[in-house]
Order: sequence, then structure tokens, then C-alpha cells
Amino acid sequence: MEKIIVNGGRPLVGSVEVSGSKNAAIPIILATLAVDDVCVIENVPSISDISLSLEILAAMGCRIRMLSRNTVEVDSRGAKGGISPYELVRKMRGSYYLVGAELGRWGKAYVGLPGGCDFGVRPIDQHIKGFKALGAQINVESGYIDAKADTLQGTSIYFDVETVGGTINVMIAAARAKGTTIIENAAREPHVVDLANFLNTCGAKITGAGTDTIKIKGVDHLCGCTYAIIPDMIEAGTYMCAAAATGGHLKVTNVIPKHMESVSAKLEEMGVKIIENDDSIEVISTGVLNRVNVKTAPYPGFPTDMNPQFGALLCLANGVSCLTESIFNNRFRYVEELKRMGASIKVDGATAIIEGGQSMSGAPVKAVDLRAGVAMIIAGMAIKGRTEIEDIHYIERGYDDVVGKLRAVGADIKKVIVPDAAQFEKAN
Ligand code: EPU
Repeated sequence: MEKIIVNGGRPLVGSVEVSGSKNAAIPIILATLAVDDVCVIENVPSISDISLSLEILAAMGCRIRMLSRNTVEVDSRGAKGGISPYELVRKMRGSYYLVGAELGRWGKAYVGLPGGCDFGVRPIDQHIKGFKALGAQINVESGYIDAKADTLQGTSIYFDVETVGGTINVMIAAARAKGTTIIENAAREPHVVDLANFLNTCGAKITGAGTDTIKIKGVDHLCGCTYAIIPDMIEAGTYMCAAAATGGHLKVTNVIPKHMESVSAKLEEMGVKIIENDDSIEVISTGVLNRVNVKTAPYPGFPTDMNPQFGALLCLANGVSCLTESIFNNRFRYVEELKRMGASIKVDGATAIIEGGQSMSGAPVKAVDLRAGVAMIIAGMAIKGRTEIEDIHYIERGYDDVVGKLRAVGADIKKVIVPDAAQFEKAN
């Protein structure tokens, strides 16, 4: 078993570089399947969800070549639809993008239902509504999505909820549909825009990405291209939070400051000094962390994927803060872990009431999901004592070399391999 061990109480100082966006890279890499040509994707984060995506593509007949640590070439000319390997697909949420890509290219898809982090019910009814509107027949049975369409025909689709996954999935399929598709109430996240930019670089005709109405004029063919993924706004926000929590001074580089506005504004409200440059942000502790209220919302609101990191930070603030989750219905599983460290938090429905300034100290905790895992690292670095974090495979799904990056800016953090009890008995 692997663990991350943190000895806390050291401010983070220096410069940390953000990797490519996980939530842009997953759909872009899987969308290369809809491009029957060669794509070179740059600024790809080195994380397990990406390795898994590439394994899935390889199993479907794509030729994959790593040109460098963060650049991959995907040749999907010889790929075949309808054979997505269930054992890989079920391990990650984003595998549902295979449905859009396969439907777009072959008019059929047979994909296992997605896995991913558990923070409540995560339906895909809006994806299915979109595919059906495009003329596909969809059956969800025995753990698989079975989709077929003689022709995908452009149409108007109104999403009942703002869904990142639904918007992206339908956009991929509609890129190769006949005629024009209009998605209304579309998600506006930067990764939606990045996917649209990638598809357009391949010859798609998509306008309006980043607004709530996206127009897609279908094309017969998508050609290969070279494309660089945008920086990861959640990774950037995580390091910004870590700087504030540890009373440090960090320059977070390779960011798009515009994407960080909701996070920067909350940190400023807490008393943290923020300096925005062209492609970096400096986060400077003033020694004060004021209480604030935070409510998650779709972009450009405060991201749900920053909820746990702020949950950890607010434990250190000078008063009672309310943190309200409005996207997922079970995102506070990490609260029990923070309580092991001495945090005082009460969850009342969708709101966590966090009494800051309690005496906290390191403890054995679990990463209950990806962002919850980094919240444990943030808390562990900010408080005294030793924190041992289990189930770190969640963290590795979405953070490129988090241990190395934090060590380089002064954290006392390491990854260790601990033989689990069963293995230990066997070995002895
Ligand atoms: N929803 C529906 N029906 C659908 C789809 C979504 O009711 O068909 C609801 C969800 O239950 C949720 C809301 O709509 O209440 C928003 O869900 P969305 O579809 O936007 O989320 P997602 O596509 O499942 C992606 C990211 C998440 C991120 C959310 C919100 C990927 C692979 N995942 O999930 O990322 O939290 O958008 O921004 O892109 C993470 O990176 O840690 C992560 C969980």
C-alpha cells in the first residue's frame, strides 16, 4: 500500500508550475478517437486518468507514442468502435466521452458505465437525452451503454442542468453529425472551450463555447492536428490554497489568471494578498485568514472541485465559515477525515459549518476522493504533527507529481510504500 506522509508546520515558499488540465485532457484525448487521423497533444498531465485513457485507446486499436513526458501522439486511423475494454472504462468517470466519439465516427458505441469519484448520485440522463435528440437509439443495460444511429442529425438540445460532461459528450458526437446542432444551457467551463478549440483545430465548426449556447455545424471528416491543453485551474487553485494555509509565499506559474477569478477573490476576502501576472499568480500570506462564506456554482462561479481544499483552509480561519455545495449531493465525505485532525465542522444538508481556529494536529486519514485527498495534504502541511494519508491512488488520478512539486517549495512530504498486513504475513 502506498501512503503520503506529511510533517506539517512549514510555509510553502517559491515557485510551482501547474500542469495541463485533467478535465480538458481527458475529453481531448478520448475525442481523438473521433478523428480518423494523427493528433499530437501537448501539455498533457502525467496522471493515472490519462494513462488509463491512453490504455483504453490502445485497446481500441489506436497507436500511441509518448513523444515526451507531456506530449502524446495518437494515431486513430486503425481504431475500431464498439470494443471499449470494460475493466478499464469502469475505472474512470470521463470514459463516457467514448460514447460521443464512437457515435460520431462509427454511428455506434458500446461502452461500460463510467466509474470515478463517489460524491453522490452522478446520472448521465442529459448525455443520453442529447444523443437521442441527435437520432441515436440508446439502451442502458447490464452495465453498458449501447448506442446506435444510422445518421446523427443536428438538432436543438436544451439541457435541464448545466452539465460539463453532457455538453462535451454531445459536442463531440455533433461535430460529425449532419447539419447544425445547438446546445442551450451549455456548461461554460474553460475545459468545454478547450475541447471546442481542439475540435475546431481538427476542422470542426463550433462557435459559442464558453457561453450558454453552443452551435456546432457538423462536418464529414476531422483531420489530425497538434494541440496544447490549457493549464489546470483546479491544480492551480489547490496550490494557491496550500500557500494561504501554510502562511507561505508561492508563485503559481502556467496559469490563466482569468480562470482563477472566483478562487482569487475568495482568498483576497480572507486577507491573502494576490498578485496576478500574465500567466502566473503570486499568493502571499499576510498572517491573517478571515472567515468567509463560500458557495460552489458552475463556472464562472466557485468550482465544486475546490470545495474540499477550501474546507481544509477554512478550518484555519478566525471564525465560523459556511461552505455550501450546490453541484453534487455528497461532497462532504472528507469532513470526517478533517475531524480526525481536530477540525470542528458540522454538516447541515448542503452546507458545512466550519468553526475555524481549533487546535488541530496531524493524524492518519484517508483520501476519500481526488480533491478530498489534496485537502488532507493541505491540512497536513498547515498544522503541526505527522499526517499519514491512505488511498492516495485517488490523488494520483488528477495531480501530476504533487509530492515532488510540494517538496520543491519546502513541504516535508513524501510517498512511502507500506506492506499491507496480508502481504506482510505472507512474506513472513
Ligand atoms: N447531472 C445530471 N445529469 C447528467 C449529468 C449531470 O443530473 O446527465 C448533474 C450532476 O449530478 C451534477 C451536475 O449535473 O449535479 C453537474 O455535473 P457535470 O455533468 O457537470 O459533472 P461531470 O461531467 O460528471 C465534471 C468533472 C468533475 C467536476 C464536474 C463539475 C470530468 C471528468 N469531471 O464531472 O471533475 O466536478 O464536471 O465541474 O471532467 C474532479 O476533477 O475532481 C471532478 C470530479
